[in-house]
Amino acid sequence: MRRFTLIGATALSLQPASAFAQANELVLYCSVGEEWCRAQSEAFTRETGINVLMTRKSSGETFAQIKAEEGQPRGDVWWGGTGDPHLQAAQEGLTEEYRSPLLADLQPWAVAQAETSGYKTVGIYAGALGYGYNSTMVTENPPACWSDLLDARFVDDIQVANPNSSGTSYTMLATMVQLMGEDEAFAYLAQLHANISQYTQSGAAPIRAAATGETAVGIVFMHDAVAEAVGGAPIVTVAPCEGTGYEVGSMSLILGGPNPDAAKIWYDWALSPAAQEIGATAKSFQVPSNSNAATPPEAPKLIDIKLIDYDFARFGSSEVRSALLARWDAEIGILPK
Ligand code: G6P
Repeated sequence: MRRFTLIGATALSLQPASAFAQANELVLYCSVGEEWCRAQSEAFTRETGINVLMTRKSSGETFAQIKAEEGQPRGDVWWGGTGDPHLQAAQEGLTEEYRSPLLADLQPWAVAQAETSGYKTVGIYAGALGYGYNSTMVTENPPACWSDLLDARFVDDIQVANPNSSGTSYTMLATMVQLMGEDEAFAYLAQLHANISQYTQSGAAPIRAAATGETAVGIVFMHDAVAEAVGGAPIVTVAPCEGTGYEVGSMSLILGGPNPDAAKIWYDWALSPAAQEIGATAKSFQVPSNSNAATPPEAPKLIDIKLIDYDFARFGSSEVRSALLARWDAEIGILPK
């Protein structure tokens, strides 16, 4: 009989041997950075012998794919990406209820995500929204607030993703609504539009553009800006002075996926400390959800950041997310460039 034990996750050894006999393939929809998606998939295959067929897509795109495949699901697990579309998938009956034995070891914000969804999703990491700027391009009056990004000196020199495809950008939209109220948030985004050179597909792309000097500012999760700085780029990370939102990066089992046994093996493994510590080896500096996993020293300290009390139940609901995206398309997406 094959044993499957991991340090700090001995509950996994209770998996029946039959699960391993049947499970030899897993179709993974991955919504973190490409490098982490690959490192995580390879580690899982090494640990379990289960082959992973991995596709990386942004959070909103993955939600749309799972929705399009409803009734004929081709994926087994949706791992990573911002929590709001995972909550929407739960509400729309696209994902499966599951209570991992490792839930007891998770941070309260990760368990709250599970509770909000009726245990159809769970938190795997957290990170605060902010922005990064290239300090060789922005040499005076360093921006410190959301309001600073409206400055005319940044005309066509800021990038952020499109909130339809990107969970990062939806987090920004929801954050602005929570900070300012909905009408004021759309007024802010309309003004900001003058300074946006490009709405990218993926959430982290803007900070890669800032790192290479293609744009001065990238609005991203702060840990994505830190990753560029750690990689040697002249990027300064900003926690906006007005306060900011955050993500509970999440994981869900796709209802009716082709490899349900392998899916649950991945799910429990991905909540273990050892599996959660792989992120930092792939320059992903989020805060892991397992309390026994080491938080990378590079991770922005959430305690030091002025965080809003992000209402995940509301902004992850089908009604609110769909309505905000429709309003963004109608009022921001159509503006001329
Ligand atoms: C990056 C961040 C993750 C985040 C993800 C969302 O990979 O490091 O913390 O969950 O972006 O991606 P998206 O492309 O949907 O904005």
